[in-house]
Amino acid sequence: MNAPFFHPQHIYPEEYDGHFDSLMLSSKVIQNRIKQLAALLNQDYKGNRPVLICTLKGACPFFQHLLDALQDLRQGYDVEFIRASSYNGRSSTGNVEIMGELSMKDLEGRHVVVTEDIVDTGTTLSMIVPFLQKEGKPASIQVCTLLDKRLPEPDDKNFEAKYVGFSIPNHFIIGYGLDYNELYRDLKDIFVISQRGIDFEAAKLHK
Ligand code: IMP
Ligand code: MG
Repeated sequence: MNAPFFHPQHIYPEEYDGHFDSLMLSSKVIQNRIKQLAALLNQDYKGNRPVLICTLKGACPFFQHLLDALQDLRQGYDVEFIRASSYNGRSSTGNVEIMGELSMKDLEGRHVVVTEDIVDTGTTLSMIVPFLQKEGKPASIQVCTLLDKRLPEPDDKNFEAKYVGFSIPNHFIIGYGLDYNELYRDLKDIFVISQRGIDFEAAKLHK
């Protein structure tokens, strides 16, 4: 197989050499789309201060850049953080654990927007959203996700987000917050992982 070609602008730590099969979304494309998502949110929430919830850890870079774009539009907001975990390796476990410092009182009567890195099966959101709805009693709750994975069986999708950055084909991807066993969050772009990346032992880097 030929070595994949990446433009020098796709910078990443050298320990990841050979760990990607192809580039899926460049940082530039991601940033442009985030500006459009911010404009959509601004249209819908102008005159309001929505509570934007970041789902840790994956949504962190997306959250940061979305806030940046909202600031440029002079859209006010409050921020909260939640941690939900459903993945082990490359497959969703179906069991979602919700943790975080979030006080449900802070959501009461507020317009809430949950930001996610990716909706895959939708299992995570199909648990988070009803949980926040029931415990937090917000005035409204919507989801803004950077990515929505197209599944071979659309019926397997458990949740539809209102705001979607990109609808992507069904590959396991890494970068821009998305990890494989906690590696690759530290990339500006989003790549499809290679077999070498999958086989790599994360413990080698955690010295
Ligand atoms: P869902 O519950 O199946 O929708 O999975 C959602 C979560 O799984 C996301 O928030 C990610 O943390 C993780 N995930 C799903 N697909 C990928 C992927 O291709 N790469 C990295 N993480 C993924
Ligand atoms: Mg996630």
